[in-house]
Amino acid sequence: MRTFHLVNPLPAIPPAIAAAALPAGRLEDAASELRERGFAIVAAASVAAAIPNHAMATDSRLLRSWDRLPTDPHLADGGKYRFRRHASFIQTFSPPALSDVPYRPHWQPKAFNKLHGGIHRPFAPIEPEVAADPTFRALIVRFGNVFGGIATPAQWFIEAHQFRIDASQGEGRPTPEGAHRDGVDFVALVLIERGDIAGGATTIHFNDEAALADLTLVTPWTAMLLDDQRVIHATTPIKPVGPRPHRDTLVLTYRRDGFLEPIGG
Ligand SMILES: [Fe+2]
Repeated sequence: MRTFHLVNPLPAIPPAIAAAALPAGRLEDAASELRERGFAIVAAASVAAAIPNHAMATDSRLLRSWDRLPTDPHLADGGKYRFRRHASFIQTFSPPALSDVPYRPHWQPKAFNKLHGGIHRPFAPIEPEVAADPTFRALIVRFGNVFGGIATPAQWFIEAHQFRIDASQGEGRPTPEGAHRDGVDFVALVLIERGDIAGGATTIHFNDEAALADLTLVTPWTAMLLDDQRVIHATTPIKPVGPRPHRDTLVLTYRRDGFLEPIGG
């Protein structure tokens, strides 16, 4: 089953790995793909297989938590189309562990987010039952292990964001800040649900160069992994084409050198 549409064959990709390698692959191959081209698309089935109990990947209890996301009150464009929650974690490797970090606001420098950078954004926390959910935690750890195979950090400082972009009032913009880096080392974006929308195509670039990829995540649990030090990303606005137009994602960011904080605390 195809999990995304490759809109353009991409000149920046060496011919040997272009068309054949771009369909969503296996999580086991993601590290080499990240090394090779700065991003990897992991098929939903491979993401599910990495979770201890596959059935939980479609557990409606976890999925329905996206219905309880509050409005993002910090959107600079004044829009009410984005809903989100946020939490922080630390992953260690020896011994392997994932620790919850006491609630902290999200902060990015303006260099990485020209619209929302430079201010603390205290988003609503991820619900305790979601933060404790084995599927949720397994996803964080599995992607952290993939990234840890590339960068070998002592620990990952991880921020988790549950997002819903809702287009029921018109256009919704997944990345109102435009093409950007998140300011971390690696990013994992998991599509949770895509309903009744057009648009929502993601482009990945090496800085200002031509797009490496132009793709639309369609199948729930497909993951897009990004080397945030090497590539920038953007997602096009979504428009309603049916009664429940929304795009739900889980975005996980991994940073070696601590959480992004203002210099001087
Ligand atoms: Fe981003």
